[in-house]
Amino acid sequence: MLDTKAIPPGPPGLPLVGNALEVRGLDILQYWIRLHGTYGPVVKLKLGPMPAYSFAAAPEIYEVLVTLNKQMAKGMGYAGLRLLLGEGLITTDLPQWASQRQKLNPLFTPAAIEGYAGSVHDALIRAIRELLPEDAQSGEIDITDAMTRLTMRVISGAAFGVDLGQNHKHVADAINFAFGFVADLTSNPLRIPLFVPTTRNRRYKQELAVINDFIAGLIRDARTSPDTRSMSGQIFEALKENDEKLLRDEVISLYFAGYETTARAMTFALHLLAKHPEVMARVRAEAQGFTRPESDIEVMRRLPFAAEVASEVLRLYPPVAMMARQPKEDCVIGGYEVKAGSLVVVHPYLAQRDPAYWPEPNIFAPNPDTPLPKRLKHRGAFVPFGGGPRLCLGKQFAMVEMTLAIALMVQRFDWTTDGSEDLALSFNGTIRPAEQVKAKLTRV
Ligand code: HEM
Repeated sequence: MLDTKAIPPGPPGLPLVGNALEVRGLDILQYWIRLHGTYGPVVKLKLGPMPAYSFAAAPEIYEVLVTLNKQMAKGMGYAGLRLLLGEGLITTDLPQWASQRQKLNPLFTPAAIEGYAGSVHDALIRAIRELLPEDAQSGEIDITDAMTRLTMRVISGAAFGVDLGQNHKHVADAINFAFGFVADLTSNPLRIPLFVPTTRNRRYKQELAVINDFIAGLIRDARTSPDTRSMSGQIFEALKENDEKLLRDEVISLYFAGYETTARAMTFALHLLAKHPEVMARVRAEAQGFTRPESDIEVMRRLPFAAEVASEVLRLYPPVAMMARQPKEDCVIGGYEVKAGSLVVVHPYLAQRDPAYWPEPNIFAPNPDTPLPKRLKHRGAFVPFGGGPRLCLGKQFAMVEMTLAIALMVQRFDWTTDGSEDLALSFNGTIRPAEQVKAKLTRV
């Protein structure tokens, strides 16, 4: 017999459908934030017959991601994304996860990244150069779009050895649409199933074909010109025993994970820097004279404040603002009994702004003296890369990329952005500004 607390608070639901109708049409992140504002750090509701538990505080988030990880499947919360990414590392619950992760782990260790810091730098320089026409002293960009192009270029160039150039916007658009579509499938239990030929369902299939063609091209290129010293050569070497389907699933997962989240983080980084010119100036002073790095250690040693800015951006705007799990057996989370098969949601976005762990939770204040990871009061209070065995494979890669991107941007440009510092957010699997944000860039 489990010794547990009573049932957590939550909104009353209707018979049969529970709270499922309330979620429909709403931004799912805003919906959960509102519920936590009303009911506190643990909320229970019902989506049809399925109980759903939502946890907003660090200790329970740590329990779900780390302590209880063996009992947790990614489950139905990833069903939509599984349509797009198949059984790749991010989405799979199959036993093959462990062996696939073991194959790829060595390519993403700090020692391995060391060799790639230079190519991340080169890809960033190419992308940053394209932000403005060569002869323009200033100009305007849409930061969500621009940062998507930038991070696509980095993952294509540094991890897959392909120089994307400007002419792959259709691929970015296709992934963008497909990702939004599958995220919506997950958050909206009443959506029309994919086999019904609605306009949106048909468009999804068309965009998926564009994406699959692009991924097949990456695989073809890697096979015809294998360079075992490059990251791309090593990825394909590590995955050489995968069958065609699993190779496709891992490549699209790495590609997608490699740029989408970093693009979201960089979008907020540009906006926050624009609203804090004193921080921008300090990063610029640090980045003065910084040139192509030999290693990731050099990046972190020479650009500690830019790295701190990246961490502070990820604290305020974790791209994966919420994560889902489905327990495989009955378990106790935060003292509450949670039945096997329930939906469990955790909220990095809320925990990382929790006043219990952060003195001024909503203020962007990168600390020049003590880096954020050293200021942590609870390991569940800063989880932008998740935790436990399913911790982000690309964490180190992403930190090097963001640190470099921030430093290289401020070396070249000054910028301002529209609107207030607090942006309205929309969540579609990751967070982004709800409205377009324009930046006015001026060369320095
Ligand atoms: C700022 C950038 C990034 C953020 C915020 C981020 C965040 C995350 C989070 C939160 C997870 C865990 C999801 C969960 O447990 O449900 C994850 C998993 C993953 N990420 Fe990242 N990520 C970033 C960049 C990258 C990059 C650059 C790559 C690859 C080059 C990458 C590859 C992966 C993979 C493969 C997984 C699945 C790991 C597994 O389950 O074994 N990520 N990421």
